[in-house]
Amino acid sequence: MNETKSKRYLTGDRPTGPLHLGHYVGSLKNRVDLQNKGFEGIIIIADYQVVTDRLETDEVEQNIFQLVKDYVSVGIDPEKTPIFVQSHVPELAELTTILSMVTTVPQIERNPTVKEEVRAMGLESKMSVGMFMYPVSQAADILLVKPDFVPVGEDQAPHIELTRDIANRFNRVFDEVFPIPEIVLGDYPRLLGLDGDQKMSKSRGNAINLSDDAETVVSKVKKATTDSHSDIVFDPENRPEVSNLLSMFAMATGRSEVDIAKDFDGKGYGDLKRELGDALNVFLDPIRERRAQVSDEDVKRILQDGTAKVRAIGAGTMKEVRDAIKFAYPRIF
Ligand code: TRP
Repeated sequence: MNETKSKRYLTGDRPTGPLHLGHYVGSLKNRVDLQNKGFEGIIIIADYQVVTDRLETDEVEQNIFQLVKDYVSVGIDPEKTPIFVQSHVPELAELTTILSMVTTVPQIERNPTVKEEVRAMGLESKMSVGMFMYPVSQAADILLVKPDFVPVGEDQAPHIELTRDIANRFNRVFDEVFPIPEIVLGDYPRLLGLDGDQKMSKSRGNAINLSDDAETVVSKVKKATTDSHSDIVFDPENRPEVSNLLSMFAMATGRSEVDIAKDFDGKGYGDLKRELGDALNVFLDPIRERRAQVSDEDVKRILQDGTAKVRAIGAGTMKEVRDAIKFAYPRIF
């Protein structure tokens, strides 16, 4: 990709719970890097996507507030990288309706990410139309702001491919409205959870959250799974649990795993866990400090500003879209 300063990207998250270290290495750090390089980022909090596979909405609002605090605490500056809530931009609903006409049912049916989610949630015979439609809604999230690229993890790639296909079809059938956004896949170290077995994830209960206090971090690390060996070596293949603890250590300190392992020559898991807890807390302290400075009022202001910016961009896009589909006729009502 040609790195021009003013390039725009859009990415985002579902407000399903607190962000953790896996999110940090997998996407947040990259967003902060992009911001510092001068890219124009926009972050969507995709609240409608939460209800695609569950109908409990009690915690969505609270999760949105926490998510904004997570973003700001790691260094996202909402002045440079506006943050907005999907449901508060009605232009997205309009665009979703229009884009659904240039999307075919088989295009969604073969989407591997949707298939996997349906399987994981056991929704085979009871998938909602909203769930089926969400890739179209995500295409609208992206195309409304006409980004140059979309930085995402591997699992999101099918959605961005679909977005490109939808944009191309719209442009061909109606008029050249949408630039075709590039997919930028993250190439990041895989951080496993405290079980050393699976990806760090909220639902697996193996995560260290960015919002965990120091005591919680120490006690989670103490309970992390280790093997029956006792020496500390970095060997992800054969010794995944201890290697993953070293990877967390590396993430927190910016040193290499092999280097850190040398420090623990002749020491045991207890030592490693104690020092890892300390290192993580040193890493998380500035994040906690920034978080403590963000009030609920600040969050509201951040979201109001972000939403207003996106609605202004979106109004421009929707005007072009209505012109393209010839729905801009003089109103008779
Ligand atoms: N589907 C994304 C996720 O589950 C969230 C999302 C919604 C998104 N709209 C987006 C990501 C647009 C990138 C671009 O994490």
